[in-house]
Amino acid sequence: MEKLTYYLENELAGAFEAAGYAAEYARVTVSNRPDLCEYQCNGAMAAAKAYHKAPIAIAKDVLAHFPEEDRKVVGRIEAVPPGFINFDVDPWYAAAYLAAAAEDEDLGIPQKEPETVVIDYGGPNVAKPLHVGHLRSAVIGESIKRLGRAVGHNVIGDVHLGDWGLQMGLLITEMGERMPSLPYFDENFDGEYPEEAPFTIAMLEEMYPAASARAKTDEEYHARALSATHALQEGRRGYRALWDKIMELSIRDLKANYEKLDVTFDLWKGESDVQQYIPDMIAYLVENGYAHEDQGALVVDVAEEGDTKEIPPCIIRKSDGASLYATTDLATILERVKLFDPDEMIYITDKRQEMHFTQVFRAARKSGLVYDGTKLRHLGFGTMNGKDGKPFKTRQGGVMRLEYLIADIDAEMEKKIRENRNVREEDAAETARIVGLAALKYGDLSNQATKDYVFDVDKFTSFEGNTGPYILYTIVRIKSILSRFAEEHPEENVTPDDLMGAASAAEKKLVLTASQFGWTAAEAFDTLAPHRLCQYVYETANAFNTFYHETKILSEEDPARRRSYIALLTIVRRMMERAIDLLGFSAPEHM
Ligand code: ARG
Repeated sequence: MEKLTYYLENELAGAFEAAGYAAEYARVTVSNRPDLCEYQCNGAMAAAKAYHKAPIAIAKDVLAHFPEEDRKVVGRIEAVPPGFINFDVDPWYAAAYLAAAAEDEDLGIPQKEPETVVIDYGGPNVAKPLHVGHLRSAVIGESIKRLGRAVGHNVIGDVHLGDWGLQMGLLITEMGERMPSLPYFDENFDGEYPEEAPFTIAMLEEMYPAASARAKTDEEYHARALSATHALQEGRRGYRALWDKIMELSIRDLKANYEKLDVTFDLWKGESDVQQYIPDMIAYLVENGYAHEDQGALVVDVAEEGDTKEIPPCIIRKSDGASLYATTDLATILERVKLFDPDEMIYITDKRQEMHFTQVFRAARKSGLVYDGTKLRHLGFGTMNGKDGKPFKTRQGGVMRLEYLIADIDAEMEKKIRENRNVREEDAAETARIVGLAALKYGDLSNQATKDYVFDVDKFTSFEGNTGPYILYTIVRIKSILSRFAEEHPEENVTPDDLMGAASAAEKKLVLTASQFGWTAAEAFDTLAPHRLCQYVYETANAFNTFYHETKILSEEDPARRRSYIALLTIVRRMMERAIDLLGFSAPEHM
């Protein structure tokens, strides 16, 4: 489906032409004076110069050539000095447009030429606990994945684990200290390693920070961790077996955590998977002159003419021979091209990694690791701050673990839900979980991703204002009206075709606001901006609530009008539910 403005423009263009003016002046925009009209056309002002006429004369001319019988899309219309053409959309046309979107199998979301898109999000580091810094990547990435699918792309979500760095060497070293008799540390051991892991997730989480802290002050220990990392990377059997166990436990734990967020990945690949490509890739880069030595390191120059700030060379091998984050990311691009031949790769990380991705993307493009047409996009998001404006911390001042944060929100939500008493006692906890997730995700997604935002449990869990619970509350209210209608009129089968032209300004506003669903979803994907879809659901919720307060819906006496209201509510509910699904959460039955 095209935008509503497209149809308005088309019809108005006919009038411009009939009056002897070029059709291109019939440009339509949403009114910036919604109190006066819904749409406006400033084309008469623009045409005045070309036709040597007063703008108001042109506007009146156009209207004179636009008799009522020619107006199917455009409704009430007037020419206003000095030359504006102000108009509304015909209420019946607006109803038909919304009904057509509701009957469309994609609910009015314009479909793209299908492309393969890899989305790299989540990005947790194995054995280190998931912390709030990883929350945004998971939440934003999940929404973008769903949006990409909704516009028709084949989207592959990859968690891209950090599973190959020094943290693994640190863990192995620390385990060697604590449990030296395990066969993993015996270089002469050639038997089977035990099935059972010799540690738990809780132990890993305690061991990693301990090891990392010790390495900062104990040079000898740090050196041992480095050499353990190296031995692991070289394939030492015992370390590799231990690493497998660490991975097994960590991935199980990570999956459970992401499940709580309703975030899922198609691929659980990581940095370790692409190490195999690095030697050949480096040889290729060197042999073709893309990479060169610089003070012992191997670098790819990525500065370009017209850069407004310095873009340093992309280092792919340090002087001690070690590969780096950029090396792994280049090898990952290589693997993705090989396995999936994607049209686009999208990365979602903290915006502090912007320079890294600029360098990696340029190096990949320059050296032909990707095709010219392959799109590479990085969405860098801002920091989640506490109420003090500083990066979010626990009360003790540490980095907050994700599961505690979720538990905090759920507890606050449960308290509020119990106070409201609309939910049965035994359902309160489950409802709190559903609404809590919406509070958390909407609190994040409703901000423009690139900006920092303040994590405010009180605000996010409020039933009023631009919050997840407010959105869900509105949907639940619509659902309850619809089920009451179904109970009172079991014989009635209402369809989108029952929608009539709006009878009030509030109803019209709801029709027009809801109608924007499809295009908003498509633009949210194009611009990697889920906050636009949040804006859509918020405006639709507001429009519905105004309509609801002004209108007797179930007690409307005219049966056709009542059916029309029910048709409208059914469509609004479907669109809002689809929108929140694309944002990554859902509504409960009651709240
Ligand atoms: N593990 C990284 C971190 O915690 C994020 C990985 C992002 N993805 C990537 N391909 N570099 O910062």
